[in-house]
Amino acid sequence: MTILAENTVYRGGLRAEHGLSIWVETENKKILFDTGQSDLLLQNAEVLGIDIAQADAIVLSHGHYDHVGGLDRVLDLATRANVYLHPLAIEPKFSASNGMTHQIGVTSALRDRVASQMRTGQGAYTETATSVFPGVTVTGPIPRVTEFEDVGGRFFLDLQGRQPDLLIDDQAMFLETTRGLVVVLGCAHAGVVNTLEHIRHLAPNQRIHAILGGMHLVHASDIRIQRTLDAFRRLGIDRIGPAHCTGWHAARQIWNAFGEKCFLCCVGTQVLF
Ligand SMILES: [Fe+2]
Ligand SMILES: [Fe+2]
Repeated sequence: MTILAENTVYRGGLRAEHGLSIWVETENKKILFDTGQSDLLLQNAEVLGIDIAQADAIVLSHGHYDHVGGLDRVLDLATRANVYLHPLAIEPKFSASNGMTHQIGVTSALRDRVASQMRTGQGAYTETATSVFPGVTVTGPIPRVTEFEDVGGRFFLDLQGRQPDLLIDDQAMFLETTRGLVVVLGCAHAGVVNTLEHIRHLAPNQRIHAILGGMHLVHASDIRIQRTLDAFRRLGIDRIGPAHCTGWHAARQIWNAFGEKCFLCCVGTQVLF
């Protein structure tokens, strides 16, 4: 896996932005997971020698701008890729901060483009768990069972901020490896523990080897962070790559608790599973 867009970068020639995009290569398939908030992933991909046109699939974790912002340009290039997303990912989305409500979803032009691509059958709406390729699965909607997790912010379905957005579209992707499952998280608005528990339910005979991506603990209480760490311990996860909206406070606690099991996920990082 190669990180193409993320909030941090430690290598010359590459650039960072608030967003996430991860290039995944399996033995015979290439998958783009999320697209950052702009076309930055394409610039970074070029520097890294990755050809987005080779993508066999595009998986979108949810409909926030920092994950779907580069999708329009990606669709121009990745013409043979199937797209996987929940139908609510292309519905209007808003967030509230400083007494204002902001549009944070896809543009209406992109919504129409994705919807028409779906009508031609070049992709699938992930209303339930969906196999992308053998050994690669998208969770679809994630049941909310823990009492200590929430969507992690003030998200709404309307500009007036009246209807809360429960982020039903939020999903993760997991891949089978010889060591166990590798879980790729977008923002984990469903809660990272809910996400991992759902994956255990979907793949009951497999252990979770690694997790990486956004855990959206940026506004989380210390109790929520501690209970998340407890769950990681209980699940016996071997490798953890906190990124993007995990937030520095939570990321520091994850690194303190798990030490060398942790790895950086900045732009340009390549991880082999
Ligand atoms: Fe995000
Ligand atoms: Fe998000």
